Amino acid sequence: MSKQVYNFGAGPAILPIPVMKQIQEEFLDYKGMGVSVIEISHRSKEFEAVLDRCDELIREISNLPDDYSILYTHGGARMQFSAIPMNLLPLKPAHKAVYSETGNFSKQANVEAARYGNIEVASSGEDCNYSKLPPLNRDMVSDDASYAYITSNNTIYGTQYKSYPQLGDIPLVVDATSDIFSRPVDFTGLGIMFASLQKNLGPAGTALVLIRKDLIGYAMELTPSLLDYSVYDKSHSLANTNNTFAIYTTCLVMEWLKNEGGLETMAVKNQMKADTLYQVIDSTDFYNGIAAREDRSLMNVSWTLPNEDLTQRFLAEALENGLYALKGHRAAGGIRASIYNAMPMAGCKLLADFMQEFERTNG
Ligand SMILES: Cc1ncc(COP(=O)(O)O)c(C=O)c1O
Repeated sequence: MSKQVYNFGAGPAILPIPVMKQIQEEFLDYKGMGVSVIEISHRSKEFEAVLDRCDELIREISNLPDDYSILYTHGGARMQFSAIPMNLLPLKPAHKAVYSETGNFSKQANVEAARYGNIEVASSGEDCNYSKLPPLNRDMVSDDASYAYITSNNTIYGTQYKSYPQLGDIPLVVDATSDIFSRPVDFTGLGIMFASLQKNLGPAGTALVLIRKDLIGYAMELTPSLLDYSVYDKSHSLANTNNTFAIYTTCLVMEWLKNEGGLETMAVKNQMKADTLYQVIDSTDFYNGIAAREDRSLMNVSWTLPNEDLTQRFLAEALENGLYALKGHRAAGGIRASIYNAMPMAGCKLLADFMQEFERTNG
């Protein structure tokens, strides 16, 4: 690499360097086979070993209870916006689900779900452009709802649940695309936790779905088989050719997470990384945090500058300093630093120093 570049893009996002090096080393000759891992059959014993190891690591690292299945599904997170209502709405006769609208992605999810059943939006953060998490509690969810739905971390605005709403008997479905395995998971009350891979796990186009087993097997009759959770569950996600490269990469990322000390250690590191940036934001009026303090994300830190000219100058100078892809999403504006698991502290430190220097010369 000619110059050290830190990738702050929201996704596809930074992956751990040791993982990418291992992919590079093994790419032409996987385990002495003389062929690449992307050339071998998804039904070969070598690939099945990858799949088994990935499952094993996910279970161990996340403390996944035995009554949950691990599925690797096609189509990224957004495909789950359809799969979830198609599989879960029939759990109760009312075909009802309750969504908390915490941003763009949960809005897309509830609009999609409304094509298949009765969707209630219990609360929405739209009034404050999703800078705060709206409340969701059991009193807001009717007894005849099949499930309730939240987005754990809102990638665009930079808000994140510290802990999930406890809804008792109503299974909670969590889109954890942008914070999966960034901290220990409490599976109490969780029906499904899902995430597309391209932030904390691997390449885009596939999703990891962790689902409580008793919720599998209720899909609507019209559900395409490759959206039906029971098809994935019965076939170990090999009903057809799965994205072998994405699963192989995820397996390596899970090995890396284990070597790093697992989710407890990751949570401490992620807190320290985020604190480094929020401390700069809070020390001045030059930068303004977009998310409400109490709901701040440890994965996506978002802020504005006094005007658009300064924002553009900030982005250009940041890039010259090896700080890549800091532009905020168009729905929120400003700057967004995505600091997923693979972002080292050194990247956050460099960005924090750059922010202070930029303010000194432009403030
Ligand atoms: C929280 C969240 N949910 C869903 C998605 C959509 O993921 P995909 O592009 O894999 O469908 C994203 C993408 O950034 C996201 O951040």
